[in-house]
Amino acid sequence: MPTVQLAGAAASTNGGPQTPVIEIHDLRRTYGEGESVVQALAGVDLRMMPGEFLAIMGASGSGKSTMMNILGLLDEPDGGSYYLDGDDVSHLRGRDLALIRNRKIGFVFQSFNLISTMTALANVELPMAYAGVARRERQERAELALSMVGLAERAKHFPSQLSGGQQQRVAVARSLVNAPALILADEPTGNLDSKATSDVLDVFAEINAQGRTVVLITHEDDVAARANRVVTMKDGRLIADSAVATTAAMTTPYAAVDSPLAATLQSYADPNLAALAGGDGGAIAGSNAGDLAQTEVI
Ligand SMILES: Nc1ncnc2c1ncn2[C@@H]1O[C@H](COP(=O)(O)OP(=O)(O)OP(=O)(O)O)[C@@H](O)[C@H]1O
Ligand SMILES: [Mg+2]
Repeated sequence: MPTVQLAGAAASTNGGPQTPVIEIHDLRRTYGEGESVVQALAGVDLRMMPGEFLAIMGASGSGKSTMMNILGLLDEPDGGSYYLDGDDVSHLRGRDLALIRNRKIGFVFQSFNLISTMTALANVELPMAYAGVARRERQERAELALSMVGLAERAKHFPSQLSGGQQQRVAVARSLVNAPALILADEPTGNLDSKATSDVLDVFAEINAQGRTVVLITHEDDVAARANRVVTMKDGRLIADSAVATTAAMTTPYAAVDSPLAATLQSYADPNLAALAGGDGGAIAGSNAGDLAQTEVI
């Protein structure tokens, strides 16, 4: 798969404290009323720093998608706070919400959610069209994003002319084009065979190695093993977090932590992908998996 770097991948940090991409406290979400009430989220705390690759695991019904929908500003919590990239987004409404979602979050779904009547290229351009990016730049950025997922040759194909793994890689390219602070993926490999799963996970590893922050829901241990942090949910709560042992380090300026990701951590903040093809850093795929702290029950 060709290696194409994302915007500002080699951006240097100033050594100051980093803003968490996600900071949620006591997050709650209830469905239904009376006898049939379900506490889908029963008070969740989570802090994620730029450049982390988090896998969320847990049994069916444990609250993973509910959490993802709230993180993605597709659903509102009943209680608790949510700061996304430093901004309080718990109470955003309407256009403000749509704007932040479009600029700061990229989504990848289990069922790809590509528009069947549009080519791969047009699908990837779509979030930029909503963001008001000019046509020519849109096309350039979409082509680069498709190269990054190894599909430059398939730009003119329609979804029905692509394999499942290729469709999902188009969806990953689409999630990247607005240079979001956060990429959210709900069981992105759930409909894929093992070869396609591996290809899609390689793409996630690559974009994470370039400094992007990724949250991925999965039921599969081998998928979660590709992340550098794993949290487990049960009955609407986080019951385990593999990063617990490293949280002390995370409260120090992140750039001060001796991490190969440190040099790339600000790239997500780049408001456009004009430099999608530029930069010479970030060739560190796989190096972020080495430092796994032991999972502790919390
Ligand atoms: N719209 C809804 N109305 C009522 N209850 C809901 C709704 N959405 C989710 N729930 C309930 O909230 C709980 C958490 O659901 P959620 O979809 O977050 O689970 P999940 O961990 O993503 O499960 P899965 O692994 O099966 O996708 C479940 O008990 C579910 O039945
Ligand atoms: Mg789910």
